Amino acid sequence: MLLKLGLIGHPVGHSMSPWIHGKLLDQQNLQGSYELFDLEPEEFDQQIQSPEIKKLDGFNVTVPFKEKIIPYLAGLDETAKEMGAVNTVKNTSEGWIGYNTDGTGFADSLTNDYPDSLKGNTRILLLGSGGASRGIFHALAKKEVAAIDIANRTTQRAIDIIQEGSQKIKSTVLTLDEASEHLSKYDVVIQTTTVGMSPNDDQLIIPVDHLTKGTIVSDIVYRPMKTRFLQEAKKRGARLHFGHQMLLQQAVYSFKIWTETEPDASALLEEFEKKLK
Ligand code: ATR
Repeated sequence: MLLKLGLIGHPVGHSMSPWIHGKLLDQQNLQGSYELFDLEPEEFDQQIQSPEIKKLDGFNVTVPFKEKIIPYLAGLDETAKEMGAVNTVKNTSEGWIGYNTDGTGFADSLTNDYPDSLKGNTRILLLGSGGASRGIFHALAKKEVAAIDIANRTTQRAIDIIQEGSQKIKSTVLTLDEASEHLSKYDVVIQTTTVGMSPNDDQLIIPVDHLTKGTIVSDIVYRPMKTRFLQEAKKRGARLHFGHQMLLQQAVYSFKIWTETEPDASALLEEFEKKLK
């Protein structure tokens, strides 16, 4: 059987997904393709129902369509429902079913690196309140950690994340200044903003002077792999976690949903890192 997979978004040109899914198809001895579909936001309603999208067995959804896709789905898994956002669609006999693997990919990549990182007494700080932060918040909230606080330039966006869904987790919203001041309170700090993205962006989202040794610090920016935020954190003895592992793990989850196989992400990691450098 020839599997037809793809990604819809706007823009999609720089996506690493075709490379990752090509490798996963090879790894599982499956024949198939993973194509990019750059849809026009104003023409989404027509284009999403075009024959070339309809014939896909499964596809990923990226910005700006993660919410817009929902009316076209026959069903949603629990995480996607809670978040109101979908990044993976499977074509089934009942119609399109939506999933969200963004945050789960992050949580798993974190515990792969640091098995002790998400415990009952773990205090987490999320920096940023965009789509990536939301996904991570929802996935980590299921892990029964002690607290997940969110700091963002626009605090209302952080409040919105905390208030959606039926989370029982203890959460406080902070300004970026407060987050910087209280860094020593946290066991895990996750940078999800676009600050530091691209090799020429050397900005720091917050100063890390108050970071304590041994804190796990993650930056989901994966180009460059070692952002200035991670470099500064390392100087203070932090244990680092890199964002590209989230991307890989989340792709593996989508692939599992489509193919019902058990791909091995770790076998791809080294090759993926070389590609990002
Ligand atoms: P994504 O969906 O990829 O996470 P996004 O929705 O554009 O991206 O969110 C980007 C995040 O980076 C937001 O938290 C944004 O802060 P605001 O909500 O206040 O906009 C944050 N961000 C971007 N540029 C920033 C900057 N110069 N300083 C502080 N935060 C910034």
